Amino acid sequence: MCGIVGMINGHPVASDLVSGIQRLEYRGYDSAGVATVDGGQIRRRRAVGPVSALRSLVDQVPLPGHAGIAHTRWATHGAPSEANAHPHVVGAVGVVHNGIIENHDELRDELLAIGRTFESQTDTEVVAHLLDLALESCGDPMMALREVSTRLEGSFAIGMIVSSDPDALYATCRNGPLVVAQEPGAAYLASDGSAIAPFVDAIQVLECGDRAELRRGHIRVLDERDREVERPTRSVRESEAEAGMGEFPSFMMKEIHEQPEVLERQLAAYVDGATGAIRLPVETLADKDQLILSACGTSYYACLLARYWFEEIAGMPCRVDLASELRYRNPALSDRHGAIFVSQSGETADTLAALRLVESVGMRSLAIVNVEESAMAREASFVIGTLAGTERGVASTKAFTAQLFALLCSAIELGRLRGRIADDEVQSLINEVLHTIPQAVILTIACSARLQAYAESLASQPRAIFVGRGPSFPLAMEGALKLKEIAYVHAEGFAAGELKHGPLALIEEGTPVIAIAPHDALFEKSLSNVQEAAARGAAPFILTDADGIGRALKLGDALVIPQVPALAQPFAYATALQLIAHHAATAAGNDVDRPRNLAKSVTVE
Ligand code: M6R
Repeated sequence: MCGIVGMINGHPVASDLVSGIQRLEYRGYDSAGVATVDGGQIRRRRAVGPVSALRSLVDQVPLPGHAGIAHTRWATHGAPSEANAHPHVVGAVGVVHNGIIENHDELRDELLAIGRTFESQTDTEVVAHLLDLALESCGDPMMALREVSTRLEGSFAIGMIVSSDPDALYATCRNGPLVVAQEPGAAYLASDGSAIAPFVDAIQVLECGDRAELRRGHIRVLDERDREVERPTRSVRESEAEAGMGEFPSFMMKEIHEQPEVLERQLAAYVDGATGAIRLPVETLADKDQLILSACGTSYYACLLARYWFEEIAGMPCRVDLASELRYRNPALSDRHGAIFVSQSGETADTLAALRLVESVGMRSLAIVNVEESAMAREASFVIGTLAGTERGVASTKAFTAQLFALLCSAIELGRLRGRIADDEVQSLINEVLHTIPQAVILTIACSARLQAYAESLASQPRAIFVGRGPSFPLAMEGALKLKEIAYVHAEGFAAGELKHGPLALIEEGTPVIAIAPHDALFEKSLSNVQEAAARGAAPFILTDADGIGRALKLGDALVIPQVPALAQPFAYATALQLIAHHAATAAGNDVDRPRNLAKSVTVE
């Protein structure tokens, strides 16, 4: 949460800094700010709201200076206001910060006691004061960063400029993502590669405790023990460099349309073209008695859905835990358990803490992540990259189906390793299921106009209920989350069989009930549950396939989703649910990519 960028080069940087944080808006958009060093002074502009507000300000009143820092904020300490917007400037230093300083209260009291005064409610201003004091006493910004870091509890990525040196930027991080990059005559820092991708060819990912001094064309990195180190450099990825939404109305819609391409990419990467073998690092899980899957939000629903696959295909008992619960529960863990953590960002605080908990008791974890240089990818024993490319929409779409694909392939490979399925069955699953998935998504996207017509009627509803059975139950929860998240309609997903155990009381005349009901062994049961709701006034909308549509239409509105093998169905239905949410949010006039109160990377508990 919060995005930071820093740049130094041979021309004024303010405008490029604003472009950089614009590309990081998925990390927060409550307020934004930029500061540069010029003529021995730190100058800044700050604005409440999305980065576009700061852009107007900087365009109207340009900022001079060849070195600077910028920030887009997701408020934690203090409301979204100009005073709380970063950069925070105290004496000789300007600071941007992503993360949380847990002992900020205590540090603030200490600073108040020596006469320091505060302009904001943020934890970051405390850091700026400490850095100013440290710089005053030691005169060396790198030493000051070191000294202050030892006093801070929590996680952080910090960028700093100092008024006395217009030719340098400084940075440090602990459990917060930070990348740096150098080009001839320039240097950059950012929360992730996408912010600076238009300016650089390659980036270095800093490690926990690193400090960096950036000068034009040169970066010096010191590790926690003060040794000069060279962190590995990697090229900027195509998806990081992509500029915008192209022909689409939002990043979310663009990402919905990218799903077939992502799934094809995964297929090519996970399945060996020559031998037909699935190549994923799941071997150590094969002899375990139970799998523990853990994640947050949409990634948690991917885990809940995958449980059906691990149990059915691989015969592995499975438990699925919200990471925020697992980490605080004293869970019964043993070496007979295999642990899988799923995350788009790879930096969600609770999932990372749960992964660390598991690794700390000597278990080896598998991380299924989209951001491959994330903390989870670095700290897990095994990693599967979901290869979805940068996901900018706050509402996860392509990352979700990519997680499902990685989990399905893992379940098939585990089934083979455990002797539950023979090699020829694996081949059939690859040919008859995995290969059909991208096409299933393409055909579902083709239903967009019909889904839009329905979704427009949802936008004005006070609530909506999603139901499903089997793998369609987690999908119901995911569909409800998507709708809540961007259309602000109160939605809940229920197991269809649970309606009569309480949720039916919510049904009033016209309450929308969206049923995910492929024509499978549970179809009739799901339909009975929908009928029970309809009998009490609900307005059903049934997503089913060609075999189910006749029956479904007798109960209410219904739509044919492409008929695909059972294991491929969730990909098609997930796409339909994403489109419903997107169209409902658009009909409500909401900013689909910047839903209120949210940010994409949740690095706070
Ligand atoms: O990066 P992660 O997958 O760990 O993020 C977990 C959740 O914050 C995330 O899935 C969230 O629920 C999405 N915004 C849902 O669309």
